[in-house]
Amino acid sequence: MKVLVTGGTGYIGSHTCVELIEAGHTPIVLDNLYNSSAEALHRVAQITGQEVPFYEGDVRDEALLRQIFDAHRDIGCVIHFAGLKAVGESVQKPLDYYENNLSSTMALCRVMGQYGVKKIIFSSSATVYSADNEIPYREDSRIGGCTSPYGWSKFMCEQILRDIANADPQWSVVLLRYFNPVGAHPSGLIGEDPRGIPNNLMPFISQTAIGKREVLSIFGNDYPTPDGTGVRDYIHVVDLARGHVAAVDYLTAHTGEAVFNLGTGTPCSVLEMVHAFEKANGVTVPYIFAPRRSGDLPAYYADPAKSCETLGWKAELNVIDMCRDTWHWQSKNPNGYDA
Ligand code: NAD
Ligand code: UD1
Repeated sequence: MKVLVTGGTGYIGSHTCVELIEAGHTPIVLDNLYNSSAEALHRVAQITGQEVPFYEGDVRDEALLRQIFDAHRDIGCVIHFAGLKAVGESVQKPLDYYENNLSSTMALCRVMGQYGVKKIIFSSSATVYSADNEIPYREDSRIGGCTSPYGWSKFMCEQILRDIANADPQWSVVLLRYFNPVGAHPSGLIGEDPRGIPNNLMPFISQTAIGKREVLSIFGNDYPTPDGTGVRDYIHVVDLARGHVAAVDYLTAHTGEAVFNLGTGTPCSVLEMVHAFEKANGVTVPYIFAPRRSGDLPAYYADPAKSCETLGWKAELNVIDMCRDTWHWQSKNPNGYDA
């Protein structure tokens, strides 16, 4: 199937292009390169032997969207990754986040409807779950009470898409709630290329291991967790990408709205991740304990049972795979996609 992939030069989008091609699909990418490099798609072509048609532009540009749907009359569904995703920045610039993330989703759905393409997979996040849920989070756990404009923008996009599916029974909407995506393609050709100082744990660990950062600050060692450090559900980006391929199959056979967790269901603490990285790669990651980071939860992870039963998808790769593949990418590309 021909699949329009918005945000397809980004971290998760580029890995998903690889898995789509390997499953026999044909991705077409639209991205404004705000947070990514077109080099990622050259690397996808190196991995798969297939060039990916690329449109540089903004998802909010409806004329451009129409141009794409006119040029590719056989697009069967859309995977919508494009969006701004830095939690801290969203607190500083809420309007930018609401404007970009909501307007792009609405423009996209409007034009999809005009062309009769009514199948969409949306990148949501575990951040939409209320902090007062019991863990693990299930798809029917409470949502809302988000702690950042970024989180609310995902919550609101989910609602917009749910309403579209309610209004027109021809629509098929899949909301995928990602837990903590990490790792890189095993080729070391594509991976996460954060701009500036990384906010997230795994890129900070790998930049510390390679000497770009002096020391990792572990935010909090007095949480009510087995070793006192924060616990999350890290998922290998290749497993996550394969979850999208399973969702494409699901979309072709169903209408209405469905939501799925994409996580492993295996909790992992910050200290466990640091030690796994050292063991997998034979490197040292210097760390210090620092105060808790404001807004962080002690622990959360997914119940992935519904994805397994309904999508027939389950994460196969473990924390050692995640650490090995992150390091392979980092050491092959110390400056990311910049030569
Ligand atoms: P990314 O920043 O690497 O990819 C997003 C891509 O969207 C970038 O290439 C960016 O240039 C593009 N983009 C942004 N706004 C655009 C617009 N208006 N028009 C066209 N292109 C635009 O991020 P990622 O980690 O690959 O995340 C992909 C999606 O998954 C995002 O929606 C993100 O919110 C969501 N998500 C990510 C994580 C994570 O930890 N990485 C977790 C949960 C959900
Ligand atoms: C954050 C976002 C979440 C987003 C996710 C993407 C917040 C509150 N949540 O989640 O919305 O979907 O990123 O992956 O920002 N840690 C350190 N030192 C560091 C960095 C992180 O100890 O330098 C710890 C954190 O305290 C946390 C764990 O590592 O316990 C994971 O942090 P991170 O990778 O930032 O992800 P989340 O906070 O889970």
